[in-house]
Amino acid sequence: MNDTFLKACRGEKTAYTPIWIMRQAGRYLPDYQKVRENVTFLELCKTPELCVEVTMQPVDLLGVDAAILFSDILILMEAMGATLQFHEGRGPIFHHTIRDQVALDRLIVPDADEATWFVMETIRLLRKELQVPLIGFAGAPFTCATYLIEGGSSKVFWETKKMMYREPELFHNLMAKITDSTIFYLQAQARAGAQALQLFDSWVGILGPDDFAEFALPYVQRIMAALKPYDVPLIYFANNGATLLDLSVTSGADVIGLDWRIPIGEAIKKVGGKAVQGNLDPFALLLPKDRLRERIGRLLKDAEGAHGHIFNLGHGIHQFTPPEQAKFCVDTVHELSSR
Ligand code: CP3
Repeated sequence: MNDTFLKACRGEKTAYTPIWIMRQAGRYLPDYQKVRENVTFLELCKTPELCVEVTMQPVDLLGVDAAILFSDILILMEAMGATLQFHEGRGPIFHHTIRDQVALDRLIVPDADEATWFVMETIRLLRKELQVPLIGFAGAPFTCATYLIEGGSSKVFWETKKMMYREPELFHNLMAKITDSTIFYLQAQARAGAQALQLFDSWVGILGPDDFAEFALPYVQRIMAALKPYDVPLIYFANNGATLLDLSVTSGADVIGLDWRIPIGEAIKKVGGKAVQGNLDPFALLLPKDRLRERIGRLLKDAEGAHGHIFNLGHGIHQFTPPEQAKFCVDTVHELSSR
């Protein structure tokens, strides 16, 4: 069992810097595309045997030090009663947006073992197969709320901010309900065998620090506190969150995920006695190999002072990335960080 990743999360010494890649399973891998030829994305997410297969693909192909459960952050929103569709090219769509208390009251706080049994079964099956730790995950409440309020992906987040500023009570009620659901969901993942848990806050970077502290962070803190007794490393990734770092450090997470917009050395100074995860620009994988190697070397060096460093991209790998560049990145991190 390769436990380098778990050790780094706890700030313990490791023989080399562990690496995994955000969104490491997915469309950039030809083997994933083969599986997707026969099923829709949602069917895939609800078929444990296939989830196991696509979770394992990057582990076998790239040699990463951790696996991440194959699923999606929006699966929990569907389990709460929001009707979810994925459109090719357009991404996720919620036809019934949550913009008033009546719509919110229709959402439920589901029993995770029942409503998302396929996620828990995937975790149990994966634990029998994997030689690396398994990361479970959920979306952070703010990011999930934006999808429910906007009805899908967004660039301006008009409806989200409108609700925050004009109907703060409704917004907080929605956040609280997502938070309760997320706690049960991640506790169930830990019971099923997830060895670390990550909260993805992909869109929280649209908030300034004061709004982050008022509208988003308290819910992340509530989730982390409820997961603490499960004794698995907790990771909080606030995308575009460099200006929120001082606050993110108070989230209760053991590991702080970093996007690429902040130099890692600067982030480490703010994060202090916690591990960091990140933060290569996903597009750096397009660099020629010698330049990529140079950049990885610099990043590893800048992260030497960290209380644990897990190498990762600063956000998800892009769908047109050549898999051999990802493989080169993993091998190079292992080689250059060997001590
Ligand atoms: O290895 C892995 O990490 C795969 C598991 C995973 C997926 N989504 C599979 C997926 C994880 C951890 C996620 C998280 C996720 N989902 C986030 C947070 C991370 C981030 O990137 O910021 C968000 C915001 C989503 C929501 C989501 N899912 C969107 C906006 C889309 C459409 C855009 C896109 O990238 O296609 C998805 C679809 C999705 N989720 C795919 C995969 C592999 C592509 C679906 C396909 O096969 O067509």
